[in-house]
Amino acid sequence: MTVLELQGLSYTFRQGRRATRALRQVDLSIAREGETLGLAGESGSGKTTLLRLLLGFLAPTAGTIRIFGRSPQEWGPQLPRLVQMVVQDAQGALDPRWTVQRSLEEPLLLHHRDLSREDRKERILELLELVGLGPHHLPRFPHELSGGQRQRILIARALAVRPRLLLLDEPTSALDVSVQAQILNLLRDLQERLGLSYLLVSHDLAVLRYLAHDVAVLYRGYLVEKGPAESLYREPSHPYTALLLESAPGVTKPDHLSPSWRPVDASASGACPLHTSCPRASALCREVNPPWQHMGEGHFAYCHFPRRDGSHEGSH
Ligand SMILES: Nc1ncnc2c1ncn2[C@@H]1O[C@H](COP(=O)(O)OP(=O)(O)O)[C@@H](O)[C@H]1O
Ligand code: SF4
Ligand SMILES: [Mg+2]
Repeated sequence: MTVLELQGLSYTFRQGRRATRALRQVDLSIAREGETLGLAGESGSGKTTLLRLLLGFLAPTAGTIRIFGRSPQEWGPQLPRLVQMVVQDAQGALDPRWTVQRSLEEPLLLHHRDLSREDRKERILELLELVGLGPHHLPRFPHELSGGQRQRILIARALAVRPRLLLLDEPTSALDVSVQAQILNLLRDLQERLGLSYLLVSHDLAVLRYLAHDVAVLYRGYLVEKGPAESLYREPSHPYTALLLESAPGVTKPDHLSPSWRPVDASASGACPLHTSCPRASALCREVNPPWQHMGEGHFAYCHFPRRDGSHEGSH
């Protein structure tokens, strides 16, 4: 069954007269259970907005969302049993006054009220085992755990209700590189053991490469490229993807990779929204909206002049 299908998904924040178009006509899908869609984009590209739409916290300005066949609004209160979010371990993700036991018990009390006290306890021990922790962690408070252990608790908490899709919002961005790798390994093991599907969001293409079957690149609300990970990393075709990859040596990088790139609002005027920043821009780009070009099996780029030869020279 199709896990996730987004068609023409758009969202605009309005504050008085100001409108921020956070997402513009995004088409994406996770076709099969047990797969990972990686979503790359710098700070401000609309990643978190997309996740909030999936959780039903926001309703689309335009377009549709299908999660296992229904919109978040149609799923209503059943949605949290299917879809859970894991955020990065930063302050506030875990309540500092709650022990590990309480943090893990909470979602069960909320969504599985039928469970007895013993069943809950058993489930909590099972969750700890799943994320590589043990019963001795139960009485601990967040400040008594390492960053990696806190991230494991956040993952365990999300798994408590046995969801089928996890939304991972920068799950390793707050961690040291060596701990990042451990958490990514854990996520990979959990996917194999439980058949989970992931939407993994990161500004770091190197993190996505580790887990993603498919990758999509978002730039200030515009989807610019998507395709099977293997094909996209081998032949990054959109100039912006190429830039992201060039600035991705394999470790966590600052959020703002391309301060000189600024899209212009070209939806009405007919131009590529990136033509003022793009090194490959030509007269055509300033006059005509680019098409989605087919680069190979399932691989598409939103560009008049996608790179087709896999070379790393920026010319066409
Ligand atoms: N509550 C809000 N009100 C107004 N604008 C917002 C709000 N949340 C996000 N935005 C704007 O929407 C855009 C996308 O933000 P966000 O989805 O948080 O991006 P990301 O997660 O990729 O950093 C940004 O321009 C941001 O300033
Ligand atoms: S359509 Fe032109 S300006 Fe836009 S990304 Fe492609 S080459 Fe650059
Ligand atoms: Mg975000």
